[in-house]
Amino acid sequence: MPAPDEFVVTPYEVKGKIDYDRLREQFGTQELTPELLARIHHLAGGELHPLLTRGIYYSQRDLAPLLDGYANGKPFFLYSGRGPSGPLHTSHLVPFDLCLWLQRRLGVPMYIQITDDEKFWARSGLTREETARWGLENLYDILALGFDPKRTHVFFDSRSIAALYPLAIRVARKISYSNVKAVFGFSPSTNIGLIFYTALQSVPCFWPSWAEGRTVPCLIPCGIDQDPHFRLTRDVAEGLGYPKPSLLHSKMIPGLLGEGAMSTSGSRADDALFLNDPPKVVEQKLRAAFTGGRATVEEQRRLGATPEVCSIWALWRTRFAESDAKFAEVTRTCKSGELLCGDCKGQLIERVQRFYEHHAAAREKAKEWAESVIVTSAPQPL
Ligand code: TRP
Repeated sequence: MPAPDEFVVTPYEVKGKIDYDRLREQFGTQELTPELLARIHHLAGGELHPLLTRGIYYSQRDLAPLLDGYANGKPFFLYSGRGPSGPLHTSHLVPFDLCLWLQRRLGVPMYIQITDDEKFWARSGLTREETARWGLENLYDILALGFDPKRTHVFFDSRSIAALYPLAIRVARKISYSNVKAVFGFSPSTNIGLIFYTALQSVPCFWPSWAEGRTVPCLIPCGIDQDPHFRLTRDVAEGLGYPKPSLLHSKMIPGLLGEGAMSTSGSRADDALFLNDPPKVVEQKLRAAFTGGRATVEEQRRLGATPEVCSIWALWRTRFAESDAKFAEVTRTCKSGELLCGDCKGQLIERVQRFYEHHAAAREKAKEWAESVIVTSAPQPL
């Protein structure tokens, strides 16, 4: 029997109850300290994104030197990505919400990678056409958050390979089979696509430096499950003449059915709010969602509920509490027993539906320019 607190976090598998401090130690990343947050606050003009104030981002690598550089007039760029295995759900927005805020606040470029190849290699149930189609659908959702078309660039792997490949060739030569095997635990039947894939996920970290012929530092906001790829990237960076990318890691967001049912893939349709769910479905899913409530109203009034395990509270926390004051109020009244789950869900449903309405319109607009930001050629012929 595995110990009850055993957990696994890799790009291809997330399971068990994650102890985030232990995970940070296992991965060897640094804490996102109040001092670092204060520096972002200052650089961003006296504000912090809720994902930073509410502890969703909690870990980092080499953030301080990147911020030092920025403060001294050395711009960086943002990089994050999405493996398109199906429709996006609200938790998938966590890296992109932070990137958008940083792009707006700091005026920096954003590179987005859509890895239709990776998901085809990693998910036996999907055809190549399906991952490519989801890639485009997911891209519309991401761009619709409000990215600036003039400062946003997309690597859509199967379509951008000519742009990526000259660098991928160099990266791939530096990464050995035993390294990827040690990091990802591949088995003899793992297809060779996945064995090569880390090279492709590394390329965007270096691409702007290559394209511009000068050093441009990279900051990657991502789920901590992606860190293993970037450990390999960081190991090879300097040997290729590029800076190591800096990272900001978020916790994994529990699904609507609670931590026990968590998956990175949203593999159960009722475990996540998909961005294309109609308003009625949103309501049904949220009404059925797992909460930290008590068995009876009387008990809840008396003892209060437990927000830390509640999937509804996770939604308030990550995206839907419009202010820190609202978030604090929900948390406080939940714990005290004043706020009951039905009322809390009702308030949340209203906000989610409003967001969906706005998002659907923004998505139609984003479709008009999405093609124009897909990078298809290399900056240099060689
Ligand atoms: N591997 C990621 C996924 O499965 C996709 C991805 C590519 C990514 N490049 C990235 C994620 C950079 C975060 C940062 O979703």
